[in-house]
Amino acid sequence: MSDVVLQSITKKYGQVNAVNDVSMTIQQGELVAFLGPSGCGKTTTLRMIGGFVDVTSGRISVGGRDITHLPPHKRNMGFGFQNYALFPHMNVAANVAFGLEMRGLSKPDIHTKVNLALDRVKLRQFADRLPKQMSGGQQQRVALARALVIEPDVLLLDEPLSNLDANLRHEMKEEIRNIQNSLGITTIFVTHDQDEALSISDKVVVMRQGIVEQVGTPTQVFDAPRSRFVAEFMGVSNLLTGKPESKGYFRLTSGELVPVQVIAPDVNKTILALRPERIEISSCLTSAGSASDVSRALEGRIEHAVYRGLMIDYRIKTKSGLSLIARRPAPAAGGLQILPTGHEVALSWSKDAAALVSA
Ligand SMILES: Nc1ncnc2c1ncn2[C@@H]1O[C@H](COP(=O)(O)OP(=O)(O)OP(=O)(O)O)[C@@H](O)[C@H]1O
Ligand SMILES: [Mg+2]
Repeated sequence: MSDVVLQSITKKYGQVNAVNDVSMTIQQGELVAFLGPSGCGKTTTLRMIGGFVDVTSGRISVGGRDITHLPPHKRNMGFGFQNYALFPHMNVAANVAFGLEMRGLSKPDIHTKVNLALDRVKLRQFADRLPKQMSGGQQQRVALARALVIEPDVLLLDEPLSNLDANLRHEMKEEIRNIQNSLGITTIFVTHDQDEALSISDKVVVMRQGIVEQVGTPTQVFDAPRSRFVAEFMGVSNLLTGKPESKGYFRLTSGELVPVQVIAPDVNKTILALRPERIEISSCLTSAGSASDVSRALEGRIEHAVYRGLMIDYRIKTKSGLSLIARRPAPAAGGLQILPTGHEVALSWSKDAAALVSA
C-alpha cells in the first residue's frame, strides 16, 4: 500500500509561508491534482513529498512509513518536472536507463525494463535518438518513461504538459491517465489549469497562498465550491451577495428572493455562485408571473451579447441593477436569432445549479 499521508506540513522561507499546515491523505492508486494560481505552494508541496525540499515542520508518510527525512533516492518516487531536463548528450534509452543504473541493476534487466517503459509511452523506435532530435511532446514522454521505469510507489508530476500545444496536451493527458490507471500508481499532478485538473484526476486539491482551500472530486469542486475563491477559480463569474433565508431561498442584497438548494443553513455562506452556463433565459412576454414565481427569479434586459462560436455570452442588467452573465448555446444557422440589446428577459436556474459559498 502506498497511501501518501501529509500531516501539518509547513515550509517557511524566511518570513514567507510557502506552504502552511497542509494535511491530507492520498490513497493508493489515486490520481490527485494540486490546483491553484501561481505561487500558491503547489511545487513546494510536491518537492517536500519528493524530498527535494526539507519540511519546516510536519510529517510525511507513505504506506505507513515515515519518510519525512529520507533523501529523494530512498523514497521510491518517480518525478516529472515542468522542464523535463533530459540529459542532452545521452540518447533516449540511456536517459531512461539512468535511474536503473543508479540503483545498480544488471545490464540485461535494465535493457528489458527500458524497452518496456518505452513501449508504454510508444517511443521504442526512438531509443537511439538524442533529445534534440525529438519534439517537445516526445521529450515529455521520455521524461515520463524515465519516471515510470523505476517502478515507483508514487509518481510526482509538476506541470508535465505545460510545454505542449493543445492537441498534444490532450493526447499526453490521456496517456498519463491510462498508464497511471493500468499500473495503479499513486500520482500527484500539479497544474494551474482547471480543465486539466478536472479531466485527469480522481480528486482535486485547490490551494491558495500555501493552504488547502478545498479537497474534493472534480464534480464537487466544480459544482459545490466551498469558498468564493474556489468558485472564481473554477470559472464561476456570477457571485451575488446576500443571505440564506427560508428553506430553499436566498435573499440577495439587491432585494430579490432567488432559489437555492440549502442543505444545512449556514450564516457564513453569503455569496451565491451561479455558473453562466446554468442560467436559462426566457423572453418576458408573459409578465403575469407573480412574486412567488421564483423559477423566474430575476428579470432584466440584455445589455450586450458576445458571440463565441458555439456559445453566446449575454450580459444582463437586472431591474435592481445587478449585472450577470448567462452563456447560452448559439443558435444554429437559420435558427433562432441572437437576442438583441435591450430585449427584456427573465432568468431562471434549477435550485441545484446555484452554490452558496463563504466570502
Ligand atoms: N527557494 C525559495 N526561496 C524563497 N521563496 C520561495 C522559494 N521557492 C518558492 N518560494 C516561494 O514560495 C511560494 C510558493 O512557491 P511554489 O513554487 O510552490 O508555487 P507554485 O504554486 O508551484 O507556483 P507556479 O504555478 O508559479 O509554479 C511563492 O511565494 C514563492 O515565491
Ligand atoms: Mg510550480
